Amino acid sequence: MSSLINENAVILSNQQVGPRLHLMVLEAPEIAARVAPGQFVHMKVPRMDDHILRRPFSIYAADAAAGTVDILYQVVGYGSDHMTGLEAGLCAELMGPVGTGWHAGENVERALLVAGGVGAAPLFMLAEQLVGRGVKLDVVLGAQTEQALVCRSRYEELLGCCPNCSTDDGTFGRPGFCTSLVEEALAVAENEGRPYDYLAVCGPEPLMRIVARLAQAHGVPAQVSMEKRMACGIGACLSCVVDTVDGKKRACVDGPVFDSQKVVW
Ligand SMILES: Cc1cc2nc3c(=O)[nH]c(=O)nc-3n(C[C@H](O)[C@H](O)[C@H](O)COP(=O)(O)OP(=O)(O)OC[C@H]3O[C@@H](n4cnc5c(N)ncnc54)[C@H](O)[C@@H]3O)c2cc1C
Ligand code: FES
Repeated sequence: MSSLINENAVILSNQQVGPRLHLMVLEAPEIAARVAPGQFVHMKVPRMDDHILRRPFSIYAADAAAGTVDILYQVVGYGSDHMTGLEAGLCAELMGPVGTGWHAGENVERALLVAGGVGAAPLFMLAEQLVGRGVKLDVVLGAQTEQALVCRSRYEELLGCCPNCSTDDGTFGRPGFCTSLVEEALAVAENEGRPYDYLAVCGPEPLMRIVARLAQAHGVPAQVSMEKRMACGIGACLSCVVDTVDGKKRACVDGPVFDSQKVVW
């Protein structure tokens, strides 16, 4: 919490990269230098004075040397639609880095990351961290269509091979939901005698619930990122509460990342 800062970030670019998906690159050197995988920024969207609430967006990538952060956002409502019209040069007030991100223990040797849709964004910095640590990493990406698999190329570059992909309409990879790829990956790793010792999942809540159950059934410790609606972003308003076995927790400060077995689904 003490490292939370407010930064006036200049929008460097803001481009459509897929169906209802946009990539915004912002100059935010202080946040870029401090962010950990799975944390997010709380953005005061410029030119939206009629809506005072900030919008939370995960940091997809950060370049401390260049002082930039990337966010990948999906257009779902008023604020995100408004964001598509923001041009380079404008300033956006960012509060960040917010929240408690992913934590893969030091002893992790083999990990599986699972992303549904825009959930691929908050997992990318974790993927970079794990690859940098020499962890054997497998990635499953699911999306509605091939065009919506916008993070695929970045993961491919990082992994040196194409991640396991599925599309709901069968236009790329396995047709249908990505949960069948997750089941297979868990079984293959076990048959190889080298089961996963960490799993992280981000995406729609039903996907996270199913993947959390699969991980539990295979005895794999798993974490999930809970994207609750947020107002203050600093733990004061209780609008982002997650029910856990340890009681109610605030997604903005206690999360957004939680151990999957702690969440009451
Ligand atoms: C920690 C965190 C990280 C996030 N990271 C990303 C990201 O990297 N990319 C991305 O595209 N989105 C992300 N989201 C979701 C994003 O914040 C919302 O989509 C956005 O705030 C919607 O604003 P809006 O004004 O367009 O929607 P509104 O007009 O306010 O609402 C439109 C619809 O979006 C839903 N919605 C609104 N806020 C949220 C929310 N916080 N979580 C889930 N659904 C919501 C509403 O229920 C409604 O159905 C994240 C959310 C959280 C909490
Ligand atoms: S958004 Fe206010 S407590 Fe989390």
